[in-house]
Amino acid sequence: MSRLSDIAHQLVAPGKGILAADESTGTIKKRLDTIGVESTETTRRDYREMLFGATEAMTSYISGVILFDETLRQSASDGTSFVDMLRAMNCLPGIKVDIGAKPMPGYADETVTEGLDGLRERLNEYARIGAAFAKWRAVIAIGENKPTRASIHANAHALARYAALCQEAGIVPIVEPEVLADGKPGDHTIEVCERVTTDTLGEVFEQLRLAGVELDGMILKPNMVIPGVNGPKVSVEDVAERTVRTLKATVPPIVPGIAFLSGGQTSEQASANLSAMQHVSKLPWALTFSYGRALQADALAAWAGKPENVEAARAAFTHRARMNSLASRGEWAPELDRAA
Ligand code: 13P
Repeated sequence: MSRLSDIAHQLVAPGKGILAADESTGTIKKRLDTIGVESTETTRRDYREMLFGATEAMTSYISGVILFDETLRQSASDGTSFVDMLRAMNCLPGIKVDIGAKPMPGYADETVTEGLDGLRERLNEYARIGAAFAKWRAVIAIGENKPTRASIHANAHALARYAALCQEAGIVPIVEPEVLADGKPGDHTIEVCERVTTDTLGEVFEQLRLAGVELDGMILKPNMVIPGVNGPKVSVEDVAERTVRTLKATVPPIVPGIAFLSGGQTSEQASANLSAMQHVSKLPWALTFSYGRALQADALAAWAGKPENVEAARAAFTHRARMNSLASRGEWAPELDRAA
């Protein structure tokens, strides 16, 4: 196995998944605002140290953590760099390298993710600092007359350019094309999500092949096939069946793993859906989690910025990590979730 393939398999090892803690400075401010904590370099450090210091969660359930540039360069309060702290727990450090979804010229209300200029140099530096993998998020919005073929194509092309540059630098790319559930108006049906996700993943793999990306040295991070947040509700089984069907139709079996984003689902929904997918049929790839909000929300609320709450917050995070680890094995159950 190549080194890239080794790392990709390590990220989706049985019972493990990825913690997405790569909120940009703007996004983490929004999260800290919800608990009344001012966002400063120190509070952002303290928050991440609370999460990464949850030793049981990190060693047993988390294979890798996606970081933002500032965090990759930061150290815990005792002076240990976060990169060293994660590596000591056998967790791979990763880095978000896109610079965000920007308005796409000529296509009102659609975006294309930017960050390719100078990316080769940035990736080489990130590899020197210790990043083993990277993430780039493309955003596909559903609404009247969207997504257009143009936005799907532009975003897939950028993802493929990014992935090829990552592999050149010895970094495993996480390829994240997110079909938004929580965009506006967010009233679409699950059928529409299935069609748009199928079109998007089809184009993404076409572009990855054209760019010469080694498909066994990458991880796909897609949305689950779910209705918009204001759309008609569906069952867990419906989500699981449609998601697996969509992935089987578009993702080559050589891809080592698929690690979902949570995309505004509640923490419990994200665990329930992931667990149900493991029972639909035999799967060629590992299916696991790469959650941001669905892993962190309870811990963030329990922490509330207070040092005396760190242990309770770590317990909340460990619980969610364990629930999602069980889900990645198809062993999650609501009773286990609520017993905590
Ligand atoms: P959510 O799980 O909160 O959607 O975040 C995952 C992520 O990394 C989005 O880019």
